Amino acid sequence: MSVACMVVVLLAMVSAVDGEDAFVGVNIGTAMSDMPHPTQVVALLKSQHIRHVRLYDSDTAMLLALANTGIQVAISVPNEQLLGIGQSNSTAANWVSQNVVAHYPATNITAICVGSEVLTTLPNTASILVNALKFIQSALIASNLNAHIKVSTPISSSIILDSFPPSQAFFNHSLNPVLVPMLKFLQSTGSYLMLNVYPYYDYMQSNGVIPLDYALFEPLPANKEAVDSNTLLHYTNVFDATVDAAYFAMADLNFTNIPIIVTESGWPSKGDSANEPDATLENANTYNSNLIKHVLNKTGTPKHPGIAVSTYIYELYNEDLKPGPVSEKNWGLFDENGKPIYVLHLIGSGSMLANDTTNQTYCTAREGADEKMLQAALDWACGAGKVDCSPLLQGQPCYEPDSVAAHATYAFDTYYHKMAKAPGTCDFNGVAEITTTNPSHGTCTFPGSGGTNGTFVANASAPSMNSTSSVSSAINSGKDSYSILIIGAMIWSVVFL
Ligand SMILES: *[C@@H]1O[C@H](CO)[C@@H](O)[C@H](O)[C@H]1NC(C)=O
Ligand SMILES: *[C@@H]1O[C@H](CO)[C@@H](O)[C@H](O)[C@H]1NC(C)=O
Ligand SMILES: *[C@@H]1O[C@H](CO)[C@@H](O)[C@H](O)[C@H]1NC(C)=O
Ligand SMILES: *[C@@H]1O[C@H](CO)[C@@H](O)[C@H](O)[C@H]1NC(C)=O
Ligand SMILES: *[C@@H]1O[C@H](CO)[C@@H](O)[C@H](O)[C@H]1NC(C)=O
Ligand SMILES: *[C@@H]1O[C@H](CO)[C@@H](O)[C@H](O)[C@H]1NC(C)=O
Ligand SMILES: *[C@@H]1O[C@H](CO)[C@@H](O)[C@H](O)[C@H]1NC(C)=O
Ligand SMILES: *[C@@H]1O[C@H](CO)[C@@H](O)[C@H](O)[C@H]1NC(C)=O
Ligand SMILES: *[C@@H]1O[C@H](CO)[C@@H](O)[C@H](O)[C@H]1NC(C)=O
Ligand SMILES: *[C@@H]1O[C@H](CO)[C@@H](O)[C@H](O)[C@H]1NC(C)=O
Repeated sequence: MSVACMVVVLLAMVSAVDGEDAFVGVNIGTAMSDMPHPTQVVALLKSQHIRHVRLYDSDTAMLLALANTGIQVAISVPNEQLLGIGQSNSTAANWVSQNVVAHYPATNITAICVGSEVLTTLPNTASILVNALKFIQSALIASNLNAHIKVSTPISSSIILDSFPPSQAFFNHSLNPVLVPMLKFLQSTGSYLMLNVYPYYDYMQSNGVIPLDYALFEPLPANKEAVDSNTLLHYTNVFDATVDAAYFAMADLNFTNIPIIVTESGWPSKGDSANEPDATLENANTYNSNLIKHVLNKTGTPKHPGIAVSTYIYELYNEDLKPGPVSEKNWGLFDENGKPIYVLHLIGSGSMLANDTTNQTYCTAREGADEKMLQAALDWACGAGKVDCSPLLQGQPCYEPDSVAAHATYAFDTYYHKMAKAPGTCDFNGVAEITTTNPSHGTCTFPGSGGTNGTFVANASAPSMNSTSSVSSAINSGKDSYSILIIGAMIWSVVFL
């Protein structure tokens, strides 16, 4: 077999990897006064078709609940444990045996995040970070798990300086003594750079220099698009510009083949009205909806078009116990009951995305409704309303609990979905109401629960895109000077969560 032939095979493998699974996952923070039980968390993930999660620790109950679900899990070494692990390879080996080996393969652990934003939050432990990465990796090798599980460490994008234009970005040079061996490690183990990307903070700290639409992935007038004068690449959103800045900063240190995965990105849905006016439901919805479409569309970035940047949304739940400003407690997609904070706008992205998750609604008997009126409405639904009420018969899945309210809920909800949730179809003379809580129980499955209608994250098998970009041909160079002027003043630092 010729060398040329081998090269072709290798290239084919590389592009197969590149073309694979762009995914959107979620981070699961747990600073909640009423943290749902792990089984409830997993039920929510399943109902929303969320296939990738990142944990900030390696909680045993959570890992057990995630077993045999097919959900891929990134676990973390918390910063508090970093010192111990970075100083002792036997501590690292113990950690891997208790938190990884004990759960794999039932729980599909696919990555270990060693610490969180260590370089910026704990600069004095930075020196042991690379040892911690290496010790964890050696323990995985010893357990023969290194081919399945990637080891990396999430970094804040604030360590990238001069990040616009992206082509001039570089890492804070004082961190090079850690970054260079860290990148060598990522390169030699085939791992990825884990990057936290927060256009919200970039926007907040830019004092009006960054347009809100640019942070939210919303369309910009051509004269507001940011153009990198070195590469002539057009940037239409902060997220892409930040990811490209990271590629260029790595290239500045001569690392050009390390892929990037975004370990955190999101937008808060509520903030302090005086200081955080742009932390709104609408902006959070716009950002996360656009982010999901952007990632799953595999648009890639201007520098690497078509190369997916898989992303974990920050975050699954609102964390009410988080200290700091109001926004800190409001990054979640769901409240502690699993009720969506807002309805993502995912429709209209073609076959790439299934329909909104968060718009799952059900029709239920109103609490405290008059029993006779409920019975009358139930009779109507099963009669003139043509609902198939056979599951309510004795011995059938929805017979229990045998109460008028429970049976009415089944009939109402079936009718409501049969009528495609049209306005007025969940009323029944005022004894019914719409809810987002799925009333299904046991084997009694209610219409509207499960199925593709509840899909949050799309079809895993997204169609692949051509990797050539139309970006450069779309450049309107006459507008460059204005864009560069705006962007030159941008501040790209990030506040830590
Ligand atoms: C984990 O997920 C990956 C990606 O889907 C899959 O290839 C692998 O077989 C899974 N591993 C286990 C143990 O289920
Ligand atoms: C752990 O330490 C022992 C003794 O110093 C050494 O032989 C071994 O190679 C180390 N293992 C790792 C993973 O560094
Ligand atoms: C670069 O990193 C050093 C060490 O953490 C820090 O003191 C310095 O402020 C950083 N520089 C910039 C411009 O962020
Ligand atoms: C990167 O490679 C170039 C060319 O080989 C070399 O001049 C430069 O010093 C290298 N930079 C670093 C940070 O290693
Ligand atoms: C998805 O990619 C196609 C092809 O590049 C593009 O035309 C379309 O606008 C993209 N959609 C989104 C939502 O990004
Ligand atoms: C999901 O992918 C399958 C297989 O590629 C395809 O048949 C199906 O139509 C897709 N569904 C959606 C909602 O895109
Ligand atoms: C999404 O909704 C549209 C319109 O209601 C429907 O035609 C389409 O089949 C739905 N797609 C999925 C995957 O449910
Ligand atoms: C969500 O559901 C409500 C009520 O059923 C409906 O008015 C709205 O259009 C839906 N939104 C989307 C995006 O489907
Ligand atoms: C999904 O929505 C369609 C149209 O609204 C409906 O016919 C279908 O029954 C729904 N599927 C589920 C599982 O709810
Ligand atoms: C990819 O490019 C080729 C050649 O330009 C074209 O024939 C093909 O339709 C493109 N495929 C997609 C998915 O855009």
